[in-house]
Amino acid sequence: MRQGYRHIDTAEMYENEREVGEGLRASAVKRSDVFVTTKVWPTHFAPRDLERSAKDSLVRLRLSEVDLLLLHWPNPRIPLSETMGALCKMKQAGFAKHVGISNFTVPLIEEALKLATEPLVTDQIEWHPYLDQAEIVSACRKRGLAVTAYSPIARGKVSRDKVISTIGMKHGKSAGQVSLRFLVQEGAIVIPRTSKVERLAENLAIFDFELTKAEMADIRKLGAAQQSVL
Ligand SMILES: NC(=O)c1ccc[n+]([C@@H]2O[C@H](COP(=O)([O-])OP(=O)(O)OC[C@H]3O[C@@H](n4cnc5c(N)ncnc54)[C@H](OP(=O)(O)O)[C@@H]3O)[C@@H](O)[C@H]2O)c1
Repeated sequence: MRQGYRHIDTAEMYENEREVGEGLRASAVKRSDVFVTTKVWPTHFAPRDLERSAKDSLVRLRLSEVDLLLLHWPNPRIPLSETMGALCKMKQAGFAKHVGISNFTVPLIEEALKLATEPLVTDQIEWHPYLDQAEIVSACRKRGLAVTAYSPIARGKVSRDKVISTIGMKHGKSAGQVSLRFLVQEGAIVIPRTSKVERLAENLAIFDFELTKAEMADIRKLGAAQQSVL
């Protein structure tokens, strides 16, 4: 928080909501200045379980509502109609300001949108230079969903990439910063993770340079060539 981060991405699955809540309280940052996302794990998608899961998350976070509540992964074993109903109810009941989905493919996005009685604000998906997500991105754009990119520095893999490092050198930036900047210029919300204080500052310093059209195209080519999920 001291570094300026205001977007926190957590999930019941990460088992760190308690620590996130403690961190929020220990910081002097106003609640209204922080955007907190949490996610419901797919085994809890039956309506009663979803409600329980969301409420338990709030207790651990010590918050009365989250800014965004997501379905973590699709679960074909539970009818999406029931799950969407329960998710939207969490918003209506004031437990979540916004609701959305994660790891949903285009057909599932369509289905979720048909069933939702509240706007779905984002699909959080794996997206980095080695994975071309143009199809989902375009579907989300058409339907008014933001795309949140997880694993945005490909879990550190970009540091060993010649193309990305060379582009970084031209701008006086690291490969990690180029990867994040690439996604931001593609229109994504990025949620990098690091355990190192110095990298917190590094990953935030991406708003003072711009990749050229040619550089963007070179990075896009990596995704089209590799299409690799981490
Ligand atoms: N919705 C989902 O299903 C889903 C799935 C996965 C992740 N997520 C979310 O997305 C977040 C990020 O994804 P992720 O953790 O998979 O991948 P990531 O942010 O791409 O990569 C994190 C790894 O990269 C290293 N790293 C961080 N900054 C770096 C930099 N500037 N240069 C080189 N290496 C760097 C970190 O190591 P150090 O700690 O040593 O810096 C860490 O090992 C997660 O924390 C989670 O909130 C969501």
